[in-house]
Amino acid sequence: MEDPMLLPDQAPSSPEAPVVPAGPIPRLAKSGPLGHLSEFRDNPLAVLQRAFRTHGDLVTIDLVRSALLVSHPDGVKHVLQDRHTNYGRPFFYRRMKRLVGNGLLTNDTSSWLSQRRLASPAFHRKRIASLQGRMVARTHETIARVQDLRTSVDMAEEMVRLTLGIAGDTLFSIDLLEQAKEVGEAAAEALRITNARGNQIVLWPQAMPTPQNVRFGRVKAVLDNVVADVIAERRKSGPRDDLLQMFMDAEDQDTGERMNDQQLKDEVLTMLLAGHETTAHALSWGLMLLSRHPEVVGRMRAELDAQSPHRDPDAATVMGLETTRRVVHEVLRLYPSAWLISREALDDDVIMGQPIKKGTDVLMSPWLVHRHPQFWPNPEAFLPDRFSPEQSEGRHRMAWLPFAAGPRMCVGSNFALMEMMTILPMLVRALEFELVPGYVIDPEPTITLRPRHGIEMNVRRFQPN
Ligand code: HEM
Repeated sequence: MEDPMLLPDQAPSSPEAPVVPAGPIPRLAKSGPLGHLSEFRDNPLAVLQRAFRTHGDLVTIDLVRSALLVSHPDGVKHVLQDRHTNYGRPFFYRRMKRLVGNGLLTNDTSSWLSQRRLASPAFHRKRIASLQGRMVARTHETIARVQDLRTSVDMAEEMVRLTLGIAGDTLFSIDLLEQAKEVGEAAAEALRITNARGNQIVLWPQAMPTPQNVRFGRVKAVLDNVVADVIAERRKSGPRDDLLQMFMDAEDQDTGERMNDQQLKDEVLTMLLAGHETTAHALSWGLMLLSRHPEVVGRMRAELDAQSPHRDPDAATVMGLETTRRVVHEVLRLYPSAWLISREALDDDVIMGQPIKKGTDVLMSPWLVHRHPQFWPNPEAFLPDRFSPEQSEGRHRMAWLPFAAGPRMCVGSNFALMEMMTILPMLVRALEFELVPGYVIDPEPTITLRPRHGIEMNVRRFQPN
């Protein structure tokens, strides 16, 4: 089951990797005049992996600012959960505000909690179960679109289209399919530029017509227009029962005031981006992995046929698909869409026995934690059964954190899991997927972990023997 194409020589290789450095926190040897920044811009995963392989669980690397890379689940738990009040949004999230304003993801003010409380009911399990029918319907549309194509198809693009369609239907009650290509491309470019800005020492003022600013202005306008349409459409159509309505109707408990227009736009754009990109990429990686593991596909088909023969799986069935659950967890382990999570220490602290200063940037990479050899034997291999109850027993709870952890854990995690657990088995029951020969797997870590060249596949209807 070893998967030789998954960046084999970059995995931390020694099961004896140190957990806590003996002396002061080590610093990764600089790779250029800018520390590691130039290399990090080109290949951040390689820098992170080298830092971890060379120095273990706590190591300083030199980026725009020096940052502490924490790769042991104990340290991650400390930062994200146990001492979360001491760790705020760092400068990188502040730079993201140019894209998503003060929406839920970037908001680091006292209003975050009330905004989070507002959004949370839209993501309760029961509510998500009631939305699953839309996920099924949109998946059928995708199957119909791709099953009779005589050419290969970029399934990554299809997955963006699919998850955007679902986000539009379920969160905003609007059909986004027509704009899907334009929105998907604008979102990808906006995230790429936002990520690049996070790694720039000098930022030109927004008003200066640099090529980057001009490109950003163009794609941001596309996204802002969609958000404006979504809100205008609702004001015309009257109330609906969805997340958008919850945001629009919300009143401040003390003042009775509604959310102002800018805050509403920021929340909608945040949900639009966070609610489709991450899941789309995870699905694409899932299809790529499954295309190389036909025995796992066979098990998924057999399971779905046993649980839901000749009909679409409903929400309850989907949540009982054990093989699919393991597959989804393993896909998110190997290809965590949110590959880097960062925080800034608001005060001096001690992480895993090591003192750290107020203002320190802390980086935690699910990509690395998910490959930590102390918790994941044979970490590069695609082995869904490592998520069986027996093999999971005793595993550190923070060794798997595709949705982060603590109070700022992904608000859409149940939504994303329901989507993946519905879409993947439906796709493999209906279709056969084969990567086009010569396809190069190249994860592109912008803010999300996307397949740089898409996932070009030959797709056929599945004909059971
Ligand atoms: C596979 C899919 C997904 C992954 C891997 C993922 C991952 C994450 C992670 C790691 C965070 C924490 C970021 C941080 O604190 O630095 C996060 C936050 C967030 N996610 Fe997701 N996400 C996914 C799907 C979704 C979906 C479907 C939605 C909405 C429909 C969503 C909405 C959000 C929002 C609004 C936040 C900010 C929450 C807060 O700070 O209170 N995500 N996500």
